[in-house]
Amino acid sequence: MTDLLQTPRAWLRRHVVGRVRSLPSPVAGKVVMITGASSGIGEATARAVAERGGTVLLVARRADELARVSDAITAAGGTAYAYVCDLTDPDAVDALVAEVLASHRAVDMLVNNDGRSIRRSLELSYDRMHDFERTMAINYFGPVRLILGLLPAMRGQRFGHVVNIVTWGVQIKAPRFTAYIASKTALDTFSRIAGREAYADNVTFTNLRLSLVRTDMITATEAYDRAPAKSPEQAAALVLRALEDRPLTISTAVGSLAEVLNLVAPRLMDAVASASSGRFPDSPAARGGSKPG
Ligand SMILES: NC(=O)c1ccc[n+]([C@@H]2O[C@H](COP(=O)([O-])OP(=O)(O)OC[C@H]3O[C@@H](n4cnc5c(N)ncnc54)[C@H](OP(=O)(O)O)[C@@H]3O)[C@@H](O)[C@H]2O)c1
Repeated sequence: MTDLLQTPRAWLRRHVVGRVRSLPSPVAGKVVMITGASSGIGEATARAVAERGGTVLLVARRADELARVSDAITAAGGTAYAYVCDLTDPDAVDALVAEVLASHRAVDMLVNNDGRSIRRSLELSYDRMHDFERTMAINYFGPVRLILGLLPAMRGQRFGHVVNIVTWGVQIKAPRFTAYIASKTALDTFSRIAGREAYADNVTFTNLRLSLVRTDMITATEAYDRAPAKSPEQAAALVLRALEDRPLTISTAVGSLAEVLNLVAPRLMDAVASASSGRFPDSPAARGGSKPG
C-alpha cells in the first residue's frame, strides 16, 4: 500500500506486470554507477545489476579490488567499467564526472554506496573533530558532489534515479553514532529535497535505510559478532528493488517503529536508548583509535 502511495508505477510493476517473469528488469540497458563497488554491498549490487543487463560503472579507491569485481562481471557475460577515485577528493570527483559523461553521455542511475562508519561515544570524541569531518567528507560531500555533477545530464534526458545507501540509524538515532548517523541523515535530507526539485524532470531518489549487513565495515565492533545481519547479497536485492521500483524510501519495520516513537515519545526514547547503550560499550578499536566500526 505504501508503494501505491509513493509510486503507482512501482506498485503496478510489482503486483501485476512483475508477475510476468520474462519481462526485462528496468535496469537492463541502463548505465548504472555504483560507488564503493570494490567490496561488500557495492560489489554484490554491481553483480546483481550486471546480471540483469545493466552496464555498471564501478567506483572506489582500491584498483586491484575493482579489477577483480570488473573481471568477474565480464567473465559472467556482463558489462563493467572500473573507475579508481577517492570520493573525498573534490578534484578527483570532478575528473570522474567529466570522464564518465564523455564516455557514456549520461549516467541513468547512481547508487551512492561508498561510506565509512564510526561507532564511538562522545566521551571518547572530545578531541576528535576529525571523526565528524571525515564522515561528512565520504558519506555526504562526496555523494553530493557526484549528484551535482551527474544531475544536469539526467535532467536533460528526462530520466534518472539516485539510490543512497543510508542506515536505519537515521530513524533510530542510536547512541555512539553521532558522526556516522548525522552524515547519513544529511544525505537522506538532501535527497528528499533534491527529489522534489527534480521530480518534474523524471529524476527520482530513494533513501535505503539499511539494517546491519555482514561486511568488512562491521568487523571492528565485537558487539555485532552475534547480532542478526543481512548478507551483502540480501542487501543488494534491496538496492535492486530501489533501482527497479524507485520508491522514496525503503525502511525496516524496526526503523519505522523507532521513527514514530521518536516523534511521539522522544524523552521516553532518550531514556530507553540511554539505558540500553550501557550494555554495548565502545569497542576496543574505538577506545584505541584504530578503524572503529
Ligand atoms: N554493513 C552495514 O551494516 C551497513 C548498514 C547500513 C548501511 N551501510 C552502508 O552501506 C555502504 C556499503 O558499506 P559495506 O557495509 O558494504 O562496507 P564496505 O565493504 O567497507 O564498503 C565500503 C565501500 O566504500 C568504499 N569507499 C570508502 N572510502 C572511499 C573513498 N574515500 N572513495 C571511494 N570509495 C570509498 C570502499 O572502497 P575502497 O576502500 O576501495 O575505496 C568500499 O567499496 C556504506 O555506505 C555503509 O555506510 C552498511
